[in-house]
Amino acid sequence: MEKLVITGGNKLKGEVTVSGAKNAVVAIIPAALLVEGVCRIENVPDINDVTVIVDMLKQLGSAVNYINNNTIEIDCSVVNSYTAPYEMVKKMRASYYLLGALLGRFNKAEVAFPGGCDFGVRPIDQHIKGFEALGVKVEMEHGVIHACTDKIAAAQIYMDVVSVGATINVMLAAVKADGITIIENAAKEPHIVDVANFLNAMGANIRGAGTDVIKVKGVDKLTGGTYSIIPDQIEAGTFMIAAAASGGDVVVKNVIPKHLESITAKLIEMNVNVDEYDDAVRVWRTDKLLKANVKTLPYPGFPTDLQPPVAVLLAMAEGTSIVTEGVWDSRFQYIDELKRMGANIKVEGRVAVIEGVAKLSGAPVKATDLRAGAAMVIAGIVADGITEVHDLKHIDRGYENFEAKLLSLGADIKRIKI
Ligand code: EPU
Repeated sequence: MEKLVITGGNKLKGEVTVSGAKNAVVAIIPAALLVEGVCRIENVPDINDVTVIVDMLKQLGSAVNYINNNTIEIDCSVVNSYTAPYEMVKKMRASYYLLGALLGRFNKAEVAFPGGCDFGVRPIDQHIKGFEALGVKVEMEHGVIHACTDKIAAAQIYMDVVSVGATINVMLAAVKADGITIIENAAKEPHIVDVANFLNAMGANIRGAGTDVIKVKGVDKLTGGTYSIIPDQIEAGTFMIAAAASGGDVVVKNVIPKHLESITAKLIEMNVNVDEYDDAVRVWRTDKLLKANVKTLPYPGFPTDLQPPVAVLLAMAEGTSIVTEGVWDSRFQYIDELKRMGANIKVEGRVAVIEGVAKLSGAPVKATDLRAGAAMVIAGIVADGITEVHDLKHIDRGYENFEAKLLSLGADIKRIKI
């Protein structure tokens, strides 16, 4: 077991380079199951979720070759299994992408119900609705989802809920269907576009990704190729918020500024300076933080995955801020940890009312999930004294070299075995 020990008070300064997007790569690696031939994937973040999903592909029979820490080659041509048992999938929520990918490949998939971060109820009814519309029979038995059909039939599907996972899963299942599948009320997140671009680079015919209507024209086969993962919007936002919280001056490099607009706008509202460049943003703050209200929404709204980090910022802003969680039923488990550091926050259902305090004070805290873990680290960087962050397995799932990057920006942070 390990913990991070952070001595607060240092302003973050310098440059940091953002890695490839976790939520794109955890869909693109399973998507390789649809490809006959070798896929070379570049800008792959070196995070535990990637190790886990690569392992799942290997267990299904894929050959995966690491060219270096951030480039992999995957050959799924000899895969002949469509079964992913609980032992294989329990470590990550995104293992549900095996359903769409195996269906697209074999017209059949048996995948255990996945694990992952706990934000209350996490249904997959929209994934199933999409598969059924494509002519797939879906049954759940003993914790395993059995999906099968003789032939995936293109269909028009209206999603009842804007869902990243369901949108991608239907794209994966439909990519080789006969005819044109239309997904309406589709999610628009940057990683949806990245998955579509990957599939198109391999020979698929997908139009409209990034809008709420996606058209998937079935193709006979996907052949291999090379693809580079987009920069991680949430990692970029995490560093932007960390820079603002510490009153520092950081250039966050290898970003797509368009993907960061909701974050940039909110930081400016809070009295933080943000300059945009072609593929970088500079974030710096010299004046006090001002209160703001934040409502998380599907893209292009403010991302739910940055709700915990931004709450740390608001915890130190003058006045009363209101944070409304608009995506998940329950994503405030970390607030109790933040309160132990002196934050003044009341939670009522999906709303947190945050009274800014003059300072946070270091304390032992735990990462209750991935983004909550990042929030605890930011809180430790700005707090008075020493903060210990426990349960690092969550942070390691999704941030590449997190403490090394923060250390290079001047944070006093070290990882210690316990
Ligand atoms: N929903 C349904 N039915 C479904 C699917 C979703 O009701 O069939 C609901 C969910 O309960 C939730 C909302 O729709 O209230 C949005 O869920 P979505 O399906 O979009 O979430 P996801 O695909 O399971 C991805 C990210 C999450 C991120 C959400 C929202 C991946 C691997 N995960 O989850 O990322 O919070 O989209 O943007 O892409 C993270 O990176 O820390 C993380 C949790």
